[in-house]
Amino acid sequence: MNKFKVLLVTIIVLLSTPLLSGVTCAFHEGGEGYCEGCHTILGSPENQDWSTDESSDGPSTTLILKGSDPSSTCLRCHAESGADHSVLSNDGSRFTPGGDFYWLQKTFSWTVEGLSYLSRGDSHGHNIVALDYGLNPDERLSQAPGGSYPSAALGCTSCHDPHAKTNGNVGNPVTTSVPSSYGEEPSTGTPPGTFRLLGGVGYAGGQLRSGVTFRSPAPIAEASPFGWAETDSNHTAYGSGMSEWCANCHGGFLSSRMGGAAAKHPAGNGAKIPAEISNNYNSYEGTGHVGGGQASAYLALVPFEVDATSTSLLDPSSSSGTGAAGNANVMCLTCHRAHASAFPNVGRWDFKATFMADSHPKAGDGGASGSDVLHSYYGRDMISEFGKSQRQLCSKCHRKD
Ligand code: HEC
Ligand code: HEC
Ligand code: HEC
Ligand code: HEC
Ligand code: HEC
Ligand code: HEC
Repeated sequence: MNKFKVLLVTIIVLLSTPLLSGVTCAFHEGGEGYCEGCHTILGSPENQDWSTDESSDGPSTTLILKGSDPSSTCLRCHAESGADHSVLSNDGSRFTPGGDFYWLQKTFSWTVEGLSYLSRGDSHGHNIVALDYGLNPDERLSQAPGGSYPSAALGCTSCHDPHAKTNGNVGNPVTTSVPSSYGEEPSTGTPPGTFRLLGGVGYAGGQLRSGVTFRSPAPIAEASPFGWAETDSNHTAYGSGMSEWCANCHGGFLSSRMGGAAAKHPAGNGAKIPAEISNNYNSYEGTGHVGGGQASAYLALVPFEVDATSTSLLDPSSSSGTGAAGNANVMCLTCHRAHASAFPNVGRWDFKATFMADSHPKAGDGGASGSDVLHSYYGRDMISEFGKSQRQLCSKCHRKD
């Protein structure tokens, strides 16, 4: 079914882009015919200046964005109801690895013994500015903690390079690239694109020109093109460099051993998981349940990097040796999501709950609606899967229960 959908999208895109030559399928592969997906082109076609080079002078054509701002432009397709590639739903049902921006609009409130508590929408993710979708900058944080990227400039193109011009591993701009998560081999002479079109070395972080220039390349990771919902057996396979990439904006959070003053936990290519901790990861099945083995140990709620520098070594379906081993390391996404989650600090789980069963959103919370509780853990019923006394998922690595 998913395969069929992707194929269908591909066919539609191909049919609607007669200018496309040579390059294979899918929307974001850098052919000129795709410009109209995001831009309206004003001016006479014969005088078109297709250059995306800002320094090129006097184009007789104007390219304007189809949405009010970059993120609203992306969401014209990426908020499409039910679409695999949607990252904004109206019920938190997008279980993509990055997460559903829906949670930014959900604030939960509850009281315990007369005291009121809040889990603010703002704290649930990267507050992308998308006016057409009612999404505004973070009200609490004016800039990236541990860095200087301004919240007012934050949008999809802060992180994703819409023109795929920065290469993953070298600083040189490229003109055509194949996003590596499609699992396709680029044709000879074409540099491989970056994972999920993420900005590489030299990327300036989007239209609003934040003054930040990326110093670390896009991470090495791979996702299956089929079935975008994250599960323990179909998930992004993280190779290396994710934390270093996040540190393009959050330098202070990189492993304290690498000088990050704000770091709360070791994270980065150098934050290796020692054998004792991998053994915990592999045997831990939940509070009070140990005895699992490496082959079935992978928990998508607590991922790690496997120290791969090439996507050919990655396996998004976890079909072999899935637990932690060898040189695996902790990274930012071990605990956080990249887009948004149902929890404060963009946690993959609720960092504030002693027992996972007491995570918020919880049934009865102010602001919690429909399937929020179920969707908060990607459709997993935490109580039936792990029991009522399951503690923080830190225990997957640090056995305390
Ligand atoms: C996936 C959406 C998308 C596609 C496809 C796309 N653009 Fe853009 N483009 C943008 C966005 C968003 C901006 C605003 C700058 C930013 O936020 O990075 C932009 C900005 C530009 C600019 C202004 C300079 C700059 O880089 O900021 C030019 C020129 C441009 N695009 C040309 C093109 C051409 C030519 C094509 C087709 C080859 C194209 N774009 C395809 C989204 C897209
Ligand atoms: C015209 C519709 C359309 C627009 C506009 C659009 N996208 Fe997409 N995007 C798609 C489709 C369809 C897919 C899934 C098929 C594919 O991978 O191309 C996709 C896939 C992606 C992916 C995953 C690609 C991968 O490597 O796995 C990313 C990241 C992405 N889009 C980001 C953006 C960003 C950022 C913008 C705005 C600058 C944007 N898109 C605008 C249609 C669109
Ligand atoms: C282009 C710059 C940029 C990149 C790259 C970036 N962030 Fe952020 N991040 C920000 C900004 C700006 C804020 C503050 C505004 C907000 O929270 O919406 C922020 C906030 C956060 C927060 C706090 C959210 C809250 O409200 O409590 C976390 C956690 C976070 N980022 C994690 C990450 C992780 C993990 C990565 C890598 C996958 C990452 N960031 C990559 C710019 C960035
Ligand atoms: C703070 C950086 C950041 C921002 C802002 C951001 N993304 Fe992403 N995005 C990522 C990262 C990192 C991944 C890979 C997540 C993973 O595999 O764990 C990703 C993954 C994706 C994917 C693949 C599906 C998924 O969720 O894993 C799509 C599609 C996508 N982003 C589109 C968008 C769109 C559209 C926007 C704006 C509405 C956006 N992104 C804003 C960093 C960002
Ligand atoms: C082992 C889990 C873990 C890892 C790994 C981790 N974090 Fe966190 N992070 C947390 C927890 C827990 C909090 C909330 C802590 C608190 O409230 O004191 C947090 C808070 C944050 C905040 C919000 C701080 C604020 O002042 O609002 C940011 C930003 C952040 N982390 C970024 C990162 C980045 C970037 C990385 C990777 C370089 C990273 N984290 C790695 C667990 C982790
Ligand atoms: C994927 C495995 C993993 C997870 C999940 C994890 N940790 Fe860790 N943690 C590590 C590793 C690896 C180290 C470094 C230990 C070493 O080198 O001996 C570490 C170190 C620590 C330290 C010592 C700090 C330091 O600078 O050495 C503390 C405290 C800690 N973790 C707390 C937590 C908390 C709290 C959580 C949950 C929010 C958590 N950890 C989740 C793997 C993990």
